Amino acid sequence: MTPSPINIPVIAIDGPSASGKGTVAERVASVLGFHFLDSGALYRLTALSAMKHGVALDNEAGVAALAAALPATFHDGAVWLAEENVTEAIRAEAVGEGASKVAALPAVRVALLDRQRAYRQAPGLVADGRDMGTVVFADAVAKVFLTASAEARAERRYKQLIEKGNSANLPALVADMQARDARDTARAVAPLKPASDALLIDTTNMDIDSAVQAVLAHYRSKQGN
Ligand code: DC
Repeated sequence: MTPSPINIPVIAIDGPSASGKGTVAERVASVLGFHFLDSGALYRLTALSAMKHGVALDNEAGVAALAAALPATFHDGAVWLAEENVTEAIRAEAVGEGASKVAALPAVRVALLDRQRAYRQAPGLVADGRDMGTVVFADAVAKVFLTASAEARAERRYKQLIEKGNSANLPALVADMQARDARDTARAVAPLKPASDALLIDTTNMDIDSAVQAVLAHYRSKQGN
């Protein structure tokens, strides 16, 4: 018999952008052989889709309709919107900005709920986002909130941009990071905040491997509870 989704373990990893949660979540999923949900990619795809269709990012009903019918597929690390490979496009700063705007619209969040929950498949799921432990998978067996100082996160983003051959300005990145945090934290619906039962991990002075080990140890401590 297929186990009911409720029995399938979920590890919820939330936190602000560039806290390292995406990399940590992917590695934890790969160690455990679990599925992986990058929920931020769904908000990015929604914003990109709105931009392509000329739908204003504050048109709640219009953007929610696009979100509900998003022709998105993920395979082998690539992200597709209908017939178009948008793996790089959804990572653009403008799309990240747009994602943060559409993510503040309640109808858009509701439109994406079932799609996110459908990722809960055996043998388990590692879900990465802002409201995985508080809303989407409030019954997750293990919840983690990964943070790092805005300066440390801006520095990581700076290095990524330089490595890719882009120009970057560190003080501007710190300011962007703070503005994005403020918007994600202050919004009325599903704001960025740790679940009351989440383990807080500050990665300001921690490497990825140590963060992965901390998440795995937390999950193992919860198994059988
Ligand atoms: O994690 P990210 O940078 O790819 O997320 C893009 C935007 O989407 C970010 O500004 C916050 C929003 N988001 C959200 O509101 N809820 C989620 N579960 C994931 C992302």
